[in-house]
Amino acid sequence: MPREAAPRRYLMCAPTHFRVTYSINPWMDPSKPVDLPLAQTQWEDLRDRYRALGHTVELIAPRPELPDMVFAANGATVIDGRVLGARFAYRERYEEAGAHREWFRANGFTEIHEPDHVNEGEGDFAVTASYVLAGRGFRSSPLSHGEAQEFFGRPVIGLDLVDPRYYHLDTALSVLDDAGDEIMYYPGAFSPGSRSVLARLFPGALIAEEADAAALGLNAVSDGLNVLLPQAATGLFDPLRARGFEPVPMDLGELLKGGGSVKCCTQELRG
Ligand code: ARG
Repeated sequence: MPREAAPRRYLMCAPTHFRVTYSINPWMDPSKPVDLPLAQTQWEDLRDRYRALGHTVELIAPRPELPDMVFAANGATVIDGRVLGARFAYRERYEEAGAHREWFRANGFTEIHEPDHVNEGEGDFAVTASYVLAGRGFRSSPLSHGEAQEFFGRPVIGLDLVDPRYYHLDTALSVLDDAGDEIMYYPGAFSPGSRSVLARLFPGALIAEEADAAALGLNAVSDGLNVLLPQAATGLFDPLRARGFEPVPMDLGELLKGGGSVKCCTQELRG
């Protein structure tokens, strides 16, 4: 069956105030300069690419004191128009959660849950047709998984992340078709038990090689047909095509210095 793109609604935040002045993941090196105009151009390319593909991109205003706010995926998780707010693990990003909740309030969302437990939004929650996959180990608290399950009424599958380079679930796993249960992931990022869970639930998954994972290739966004992903993850292109997807390589090299790429910059507003 040919693949079909479904129109999506995304929330993004311009990298106006992006910089790397602290380090909360192994990708961040404050001694490496960031080319801000280049970061801005790369981010605009991503935004424009979504629009050219027929998707809607909403924008949340960047705040000068929140340099990581460009990574909008972390601000909340939205399913069926219901918003599970974020609660950040690190002080440096804490205030982003409130900025997102305010945005949702101002934009007509009425069911907004302010969480009790630490969860970094879509950084650690991935939505398939049957499940919400949930990362833990570096950022989101295991307790947030129960909270998400109760709020969304969907089965939440907890997955243990064990490699600090893959500190968020969306650095190691990506949903390719959310009308079904098709994903791609890098097994090396997960504990042995979590690997078995993934193999059991997703026997047909696309398994990424280490080199593509290390290029942050799993930090991808799919609309059901087009898969936007970091351009250096070349080993994923053919396996994606073989499954009927269209890889769309993107250069977000400057944002990689913050430990994020395509998916980190993109929060999906579902329903
Ligand atoms: N510097 C940010 C952090 O460490 C990067 C977040 C990337 N976002 C993501 N969804 N993985 O929190």
